[in-house]
Amino acid sequence: MPHALPRVIDEIAVAALPAAGSNGHAAVPRDPTQTRRLTELIARLKTERRAVILAHNYQEGSIQDLADFTGDSLGLARQAKATDAEVIVFCGVHFMAETAAMLCPDKTVLIPDLQAGCSLADMVTPEAIRAWRVAHPDGLVVCYVNTSAAVKAECDYCVTSTNGVQVLQSLPEDRDILFVPDFYLGSYLKAKTKRKIHLWRGYCPAHAALLPELIESLMDAHPEAEFLMHPECGCLTKQMHLADRILSTEGMVQYVNRAPGREFIVATEVGLLHRLRALYPDRRFYAASEHARCHHMNRNSLEKVAQALVSMEHVVRVEPAIAERALRPIERMLAIT
Ligand code: 13P
Repeated sequence: MPHALPRVIDEIAVAALPAAGSNGHAAVPRDPTQTRRLTELIARLKTERRAVILAHNYQEGSIQDLADFTGDSLGLARQAKATDAEVIVFCGVHFMAETAAMLCPDKTVLIPDLQAGCSLADMVTPEAIRAWRVAHPDGLVVCYVNTSAAVKAECDYCVTSTNGVQVLQSLPEDRDILFVPDFYLGSYLKAKTKRKIHLWRGYCPAHAALLPELIESLMDAHPEAEFLMHPECGCLTKQMHLADRILSTEGMVQYVNRAPGREFIVATEVGLLHRLRALYPDRRFYAASEHARCHHMNRNSLEKVAQALVSMEHVVRVEPAIAERALRPIERMLAIT
């Protein structure tokens, strides 16, 4: 009976689960006792279900704190592939959970909130890629990992913000390349690799709103701070040259560890600041904008993680015919990097 309630669950504790915030989002303040109770309950459920909790760097702090692994999209895909747990609770957004489900078809992948999608991933469709291929029969299509499985199934290579340069550099110089869907990451890859990249016009709303003016005023206010930029940022095209480092979320975490500086301006979703501050309490971090929040990522909450483990919902599955094709660009990426 895989979906039966785990034996050790104290039904009173389950019944006392507070409802998720009235708007269904995690940003609703929770008192520390409630957080502790939920964390303890999740730990018990996790053992009963033989589950692992994987969290993206943008998740609310209390989820990052209890996760078995917190990282960027590449790290999460690798962890999913490597785990021997039976159940993966994927605290991130849907395309990330889909990637995990395709990489480990024998495991149950759960996402705490099925509505946790990705506006950027929604900006490109399989039909659009097929149309581009008709016009460019010798072209290659490279997708950012922020795409649905159905889109990945139409692509030749996948990249994350960690390995995009490396993957693009491995491709032949004379081929036309369509990069989907992020315009800013695509612009960065084009500048770095000098490949013949056709740019799609998609963008992440949280990152695209990080405009040059915001960064300039922060740099004036904190002249000693290093400027770390995620390649999805709206300031990228004008300020690529100003950034001390253009990095994925995990790249930022690792860079701070070896950086001589003590202060950093961080241009990405604010969830990463929790991890940075927890790891490096002696450094100072300034968010490029406190409003840079992904409302999809923030749909997940501790309450929903507990509920997912109780009810074994929501299971993320990818149709086998799509998964077979979508895995090709993902496996190619993993083989290169
Ligand atoms: P990272 O791979 O750098 O964590 O970025 C993922 C993402 O979705 C950014 O919006």
